[in-house]
Amino acid sequence: MLAKRGWSTHTPVSLDADSVIRELNRIGNMLGTRVAGRATNLEEVIQPQAPGDAHPRSLSAQFGLGALPFHVELSHRPRPCRYLLLGCLDPGSPSAATMLLDWRTLGLSSDELHFLESAPILVRTGRRSFYSTLLPPNRAFLRYDPGCLEAVDERGRAALDLVQRRLGTDVPEIHQWRCGDILIIDNWRVLHGRARSDQGAGRRLARILIDA
Ligand SMILES: [Fe+2]
Repeated sequence: MLAKRGWSTHTPVSLDADSVIRELNRIGNMLGTRVAGRATNLEEVIQPQAPGDAHPRSLSAQFGLGALPFHVELSHRPRPCRYLLLGCLDPGSPSAATMLLDWRTLGLSSDELHFLESAPILVRTGRRSFYSTLLPPNRAFLRYDPGCLEAVDERGRAALDLVQRRLGTDVPEIHQWRCGDILIIDNWRVLHGRARSDQGAGRRLARILIDA
């Protein structure tokens, strides 16, 4: 399923948090090498955060508990990680779904793809900020994250608008979390977002990032 549609689900035999994290690591090790996220941890537990509690350049700092827009994990790195693995420790109540969308199904024409390869954008990541494009020349991945990408000219603005518009019109797959669920996402192909969450809902997902 991972090769076919860019994401797959898996449920471990035992649903306690340790088993879920062990299983997450087992699958991650089969897929590639672990990379650290923003908090420099190889393994993180993420939960919906209010803007004041979140990393200043994270999507939560902008959107808080509201719906998190579609994005590609680690878009602020020169090369985003290949896979994103999430394991559900607690779906929360009410639970907030994860939305998934393959950018190759957005119906981008060859002119539009070429435009995304050439329009410059600024990737904000503190002192290591750099200029890049939404698509690299080999189109292996899409770089997209409204939290860290900025237009520096009209072309960049048009490129970001184009992707945002298309993401808004396509119909995503919706994953409703149950305790113990593991979601394996090909981050180069499938963008993810989160539905609105409530304060204190208790949603907790373990996350690991993989380079391959
Ligand atoms: Fe994310």
